[in-house]
Amino acid sequence: MRMTLTRTLVASITTLLVAAFALPVAAADGRGEQLFELCAQCHGSAAEGNQMTLAPAIAGLDEWYVEAQLNYFRNGARGLHPGDTGGMRMYPMSIWLSTDEDVKAVAGYVASLPRANPTPVLEGGDAAKGSAFYLVCATCHGQEGGGDPEKNSPPLRGANDWYLLSSLEKYKAKIRGGSPLNPNAVVMQGTVNILPDAQAMRDVVAHIMTLSE
Ligand code: HEC
Ligand code: HEC
Repeated sequence: MRMTLTRTLVASITTLLVAAFALPVAAADGRGEQLFELCAQCHGSAAEGNQMTLAPAIAGLDEWYVEAQLNYFRNGARGLHPGDTGGMRMYPMSIWLSTDEDVKAVAGYVASLPRANPTPVLEGGDAAKGSAFYLVCATCHGQEGGGDPEKNSPPLRGANDWYLLSSLEKYKAKIRGGSPLNPNAVVMQGTVNILPDAQAMRDVVAHIMTLSE
């Protein structure tokens, strides 16, 4: 009995020591990739997105944007609204990233992946009508949807169309973007009102999908 306990203790201590020594090496090399193993469960192994889990394509998003959004989840500015099914799944994952260094490491890894350009799945959007609305969006997100760090605006091309639509719906319903901790999202919440109805949202998303081609 006592013997087994001692062995178990020795084994645990050895494991702890190995882990402690392994950490700095991992931080210098491959820490982001290692952390990403959890993210891949929902976002896919190439971060290409998976509608089943509501997790969008995040591959190749700008590093500043991934880091900022992870921190908005971590501080509760995003993902705590009871109507935000997807956000509430992501919130606990952000908390799992316990240090700023880990947030930076995983954001760097995600940003290094090639943009996913997933296949459109939505129907009924009119890209030509959407392009008229997009003239306004372009002032922040860029003519070709490449985003603009100066305006804290993320890239939109290369995203899942279902995620773009659900995000627009959430800004409109004030499910995403109400927190004073993220003034950029407050701006987007106001801007979404240039899209008068559900059809206009589908139309502008259909136009954005032509930018990904
Ligand atoms: C349990 C499933 C799940 C896991 C695991 C997960 N996510 Fe997410 N993530 C989501 C969902 C769902 C959303 C969409 C939230 C929404 O609709 O607003 C999301 C959104 C995001 C966004 C915001 C994308 C954008 O365009 O604004 C980022 C960045 C992100 N996740 C990064 C990560 C990282 C990094 C990890 C690993 C540490 C991770 N996620 C793990 C489900 C998950
Ligand atoms: C005044 C600048 C501005 C304009 C105009 C604007 N946006 Fe945004 N948009 C932003 C910012 C800043 C964010 C990031 C907000 C956040 O942190 O939630 C954003 C976020 C988004 C997102 C979420 C992206 C993601 O990865 O989660 C979508 C979708 C979006 N905008 C679409 C649009 C569309 C469509 C239009 C035109 C109808 C538009 N935006 C007009 C600044 C703008």
